[in-house]
Amino acid sequence: MTETTFTPRVFSGIKPSGGLTLGNYLGAIKRFVGMQGAMETIYCVVDLHAITVWQDPAELRNMTREVAAGYLASGLDPDKSILFNQSAVPAHAELGWIFNCVARVGWMNRMTQFKDKAGSNAEKVSLGLYAYPSLMAADILLYHATHVPVGDDQKQHVELTRDIAAKFNHDFKRDFFPLTEPVIEGPAMRIMNLRDGTKKMSKSGESDMERINMTDDADKIAKKFKKAKTDPEPLPETLEGLKDRPEARNLVEIYAALNDQTSEAVITEYAGAGWGKFKPTLADLAVEKLSPISAEMARLMDDPAEIDAILAKGAEKARAVAEPILKDTYEIVGLLRPAG
Ligand code: TYM
Repeated sequence: MTETTFTPRVFSGIKPSGGLTLGNYLGAIKRFVGMQGAMETIYCVVDLHAITVWQDPAELRNMTREVAAGYLASGLDPDKSILFNQSAVPAHAELGWIFNCVARVGWMNRMTQFKDKAGSNAEKVSLGLYAYPSLMAADILLYHATHVPVGDDQKQHVELTRDIAAKFNHDFKRDFFPLTEPVIEGPAMRIMNLRDGTKKMSKSGESDMERINMTDDADKIAKKFKKAKTDPEPLPETLEGLKDRPEARNLVEIYAALNDQTSEAVITEYAGAGWGKFKPTLADLAVEKLSPISAEMARLMDDPAEIDAILAKGAEKARAVAEPILKDTYEIVGLLRPAG
C-alpha cells in the first residue's frame, strides 16, 4: 500500500450532556481555540453521543446551545473554525454504522470508560453507550482528521479510532483513512474533582462542590476553591514533592493551565506557600479568566437565534467536507447508490 499524505486537520467534540466544567475548558476548549489558524479546525457539539444516556429533550436542545456558547465565548471564531452540532450532519451516523461493522466486540469490551459508566449495570445500559467509540471514530475519520486534541480520559477512544482506520484500510486494501494522533499535552489533561483528587472532575459528579462550572459566579468559584480538599503541608519546593499529593497537584495544575504557565513555574513561585495564601490567589485567577467567558455565554444564551445561525452555517461547511468522504467510503465498501 502506498503512503497517502493527509492534509493536517483538527477535529474534536464535546457532549452536551450537562454544563461545561473547568475540566472541559482547560482540557479541551482553551486548547481548541489555541489551535485555530495553525491548521484547519473543526469543532463539534456531539449531541448524538449525549443521547447514549437519557436526556430530557428540551434540556438537550438548551445544552447543545450552551456548549456552542461556551466554545464561542472562549474565543472560537466561526470564520476560522467550523462549529456545528453532530446531528445536523447525518454522515456521522452513516459512517458510524459502517464502523460498527469494522470494529470488533473484543475491542469495545476493553473500553475502560464504558466499564466505568456501565458499572454493575451493563445489561441495562443502551446499546448506543457500548457502540459509542465507533461513532466517535466516525466523527474523526469523516473529516480525515489527523489531530484530535482531547483530555487524557479520551486517549483510549482515539487509539481505537486508529485501530478502526487501520483495519478498514487493511480490509479494503486502500490507504483511505489517516491514522489519527491524539493531542494530549500541557498541565490540564486530567483536572480532578475538588473534593477527591483521585477522581476526574466531571459534569455528572454527585456534588456541585466537586467541580467548577463555566457558568459559576465569582462567589461560587471562590467558595469552591476555599472548600477544596487539600492536605496540611505547604506547597513543596519541587514538582517531585507533589507526587503523592493528588489534591495539591491538581490545584497547582489548574493554576498553571489558567495562567499559561508550566506547573514547575508555579511551584517555583509559590514554594513554601500555605493554602491560606494559594487558594485565594487561585480563586482570583480563576474569576479573572472565567468571568468574561461566563458573561459572554449568558449574553449569547439570551439570543439563541444567533447561536442557531452560527451552527447552521457550520453544519453546511461540515457537510461539504464530510459528504465526499462518505461517498468514497460507500464506494470502497461496495454499497450501491443511485447515480447523480
Ligand atoms: P466529553 O464531552 O466528556 O469531554 C469533552 C472534552 O473535555 C475533556 N475533559 C477533560 N479534560 C481534562 N480534565 C477533565 N476533568 C476533563 N473532563 C473532560 C475530554 O477529554 C474531552 O476532550 N467522547 C468525547 C466527545 C467526542 C469526541 C469525538 C472527542 C465525541 N466525538 C471526536 C474528540 C473527537 C467525550 O465524551 O468528551
